[in-house]
Amino acid sequence: MTSTPVASLYNKDNPFPAKISENRLLGKPGSGKETRHFAINLEGSGLTYKAGDSIGVQPTNRPGEVAEIIQLLGASGDEPVLPAMLKLAQPIGLREALSARLSLAGPTRRALELLQAKTTDAAERARLAALLAPEAREALQAFLDERAYVDLLAEFPSGRAGVTPQELVGLMRKLMPRLYSIASSPKAFPQEAHLTVAILRYRSNGRDRVGVCSTFLADRAAVRTTPVPVFISGSHFGPPADPAADAIMVGPGTGVAPFRAFVQERAAAGASGRNWLFFGDRNKASDFLYEEEWAGHLAGGRLARLDLAWSRDQERKIYVQDRMRENAAELWAWIRNGAHFYVCGDAKRMAKDVDAALHEIIARQGGMDAAASADYVKAMKKDKRYQRDVY
Ligand SMILES: Cc1cc2nc3c(=O)[nH]c(=O)nc-3n(C[C@H](O)[C@H](O)[C@H](O)COP(=O)(O)OP(=O)(O)OC[C@H]3O[C@@H](n4cnc5c(N)ncnc54)[C@H](O)[C@@H]3O)c2cc1C
Ligand SMILES: NC(=O)c1ccc[n+]([C@@H]2O[C@H](COP(=O)([O-])OP(=O)(O)OC[C@H]3O[C@@H](n4cnc5c(N)ncnc54)[C@H](OP(=O)(O)O)[C@@H]3O)[C@@H](O)[C@H]2O)c1
Repeated sequence: MTSTPVASLYNKDNPFPAKISENRLLGKPGSGKETRHFAINLEGSGLTYKAGDSIGVQPTNRPGEVAEIIQLLGASGDEPVLPAMLKLAQPIGLREALSARLSLAGPTRRALELLQAKTTDAAERARLAALLAPEAREALQAFLDERAYVDLLAEFPSGRAGVTPQELVGLMRKLMPRLYSIASSPKAFPQEAHLTVAILRYRSNGRDRVGVCSTFLADRAAVRTTPVPVFISGSHFGPPADPAADAIMVGPGTGVAPFRAFVQERAAAGASGRNWLFFGDRNKASDFLYEEEWAGHLAGGRLARLDLAWSRDQERKIYVQDRMRENAAELWAWIRNGAHFYVCGDAKRMAKDVDAALHEIIARQGGMDAAASADYVKAMKKDKRYQRDVY
């Protein structure tokens, strides 16, 4: 996705301290996932956005994890530190650095090398030497993938006893903002940006783990109370400039977010082009995100078609690209008629499989060979009629 700067007082380097005005679970009881709807209040910020833009959120880390690291270091949290990655003129306190400025995840081999240099325990030294051996590259990566800094400090007590706060923060990377597709249109919600967020909670190496930013929004940012630093990340992703053009939108899971914005936007603008949404998730009963809103749009003619793919309601997986194939003739008719084709959501598998299905449908329905269908898709991209927002 290409980003364009958005003119405002507030930006990535100076985010607006917004408040969350709504935090609501989108799934129903029995869902195996936690997907939440957030409304971010932008009043007083001067920030503006377009349907298709994303919002950047600068999270803070979990206080419990910060406290555990400080305790494992035998520190108070008040120690002045100058983290190398932050390029600061003045030192800041250890607690502030660990809470708001540095990533507590993703330790590298340098962390193990530091523990190796400090340890006075033979068993720890042997374990570290085995992990750092040149032939152990893969095992080392697997070991690090399952661990955060707090795990390493806990697992090597003799090593950590010699580690100073400054040495630890010197290893850590900057805590980066996370982007979220905005799920509202500014025409419908001029003072708010809505988000559709999958909250990450999982277990690995004997510990409960969480995604930093998704749980910052879900658990730690109290509604109407906690400042949530945000900025707008502009994008070329957006509904057709021509109000008469049709839009085909493929957005399973949280990928549906920008398409909620597109439909709101086109409805508010009175666009005559038709809207066709392919949505999918695990189970219809529990994971039909924004079900009532889609029903309203269908009834009101703002959505011409809604095709649904529930992957876990039956033995065999059914995905959005299966629904595209079932509707190949009509899909091709829309595309040939100038429809824009949009995809949002998982980049690793879904977007690739949807792309393959699109190529296949164009080849079959258009009577083209693979090369001609690839050229057709290339031309759609060049004309900005095929756009993706994938992550
Ligand atoms: C342009 C763009 C738009 C986006 N839009 C949205 C959106 O609308 N909605 C949305 O929810 N997200 C969206 N994302 C993703 C979002 O930015 C974050 O990456 C996501 O919320 C995770 O961030 P986090 O801080 O909660 O997790 P992090 O703390 O960054 O943790 C994520 C990491 O946890 C690890 N992990 C996750 N699950 C497991 C597991 N089961 N087992 C082991 N390890 C695991 C992986 O290493 C993963 O990289 C978007 C991303 C981009 C780039
Ligand atoms: N690359 C990744 O690892 C990745 C990417 C995006 C999201 N996630 C994580 O998944 C959680 C929820 O995210 P989400 O709600 O956006 O989406 P999601 O749960 O990953 O997926 C939504 C729907 O897409 C289906 N799906 C899986 N593989 C697909 C494919 N190849 N083609 C088409 N559809 C496919 C899923 O089915 P099944 O699950 O039943 O197969 C599910 O029905 C979050 O924790 C998020 O971080 C992981």
